[in-house]
Amino acid sequence: MDERERYKQLVGEYAAALVESNTVIGLGTGSTATYFVTALGERLRTGSLHNIMGVPTSERTAAQARREGVPLTDLHTHPELVAAFDGADEIDPHLGLIKGLGGALLREKIVARSAAQFFVFGDSSKMVKTLGVVTPVPVEIVDFARPLCMRHLQALGAKPVLRQRDGATVITDEGHVILDAFFDGISDPDALNQAILAIPGVVETGLFLHMATAAFVAGPHGVEVVHPA
Ligand code: A5P
Repeated sequence: MDERERYKQLVGEYAAALVESNTVIGLGTGSTATYFVTALGERLRTGSLHNIMGVPTSERTAAQARREGVPLTDLHTHPELVAAFDGADEIDPHLGLIKGLGGALLREKIVARSAAQFFVFGDSSKMVKTLGVVTPVPVEIVDFARPLCMRHLQALGAKPVLRQRDGATVITDEGHVILDAFFDGISDPDALNQAILAIPGVVETGLFLHMATAAFVAGPHGVEVVHPA
């Protein structure tokens, strides 16, 4: 396991250790969240945690949680969550995030918004001064509107690319497609988020702003807890 992978495991386990018994929580998606779900399963098996339920943010996480013996529920049954735990692709000093390189941004945002507290975790490579210099903003759209969305994103200064894997268009768990919008750094994430959301056919953006309660960031000195600047 390389260093970055070890940090992901460390921080996933750190976050899982904070989960309290008798709670309903959001379960994130991604390689770091995988360590989190594995650690939750381990805590349930060893008895250090009991009576929790998770709302998964993707079919992938749901499948893993079932394998790990983490009981699942949904927002219809449990509309209000104590906390949600999820990874991020970029984290800025205000805890503004880019999420969705794993394709689950829509359910991730819905679950995070349903939680009283939203904890984000990642290795130290996820910390950035400015969002969007390296990582595109994933934008989940209705495919019917793709030409219009492409044009509007270009007008906002982006280079939008339809997400594909192995030559096939990626379809999200909610049946939409994703445009990865490359910007050369985002100077005003709030304004950009509003402008993208105003495009007809856009379902959700991967900009998660003013949402995170705290970030757990793993690096050479262990896990640092970061609060919004
Ligand atoms: C999934 O849609 C994403 O938002 C992930 O949470 C994010 O990409 C972080 O994933 P990794 O932990 O794999 O970097």
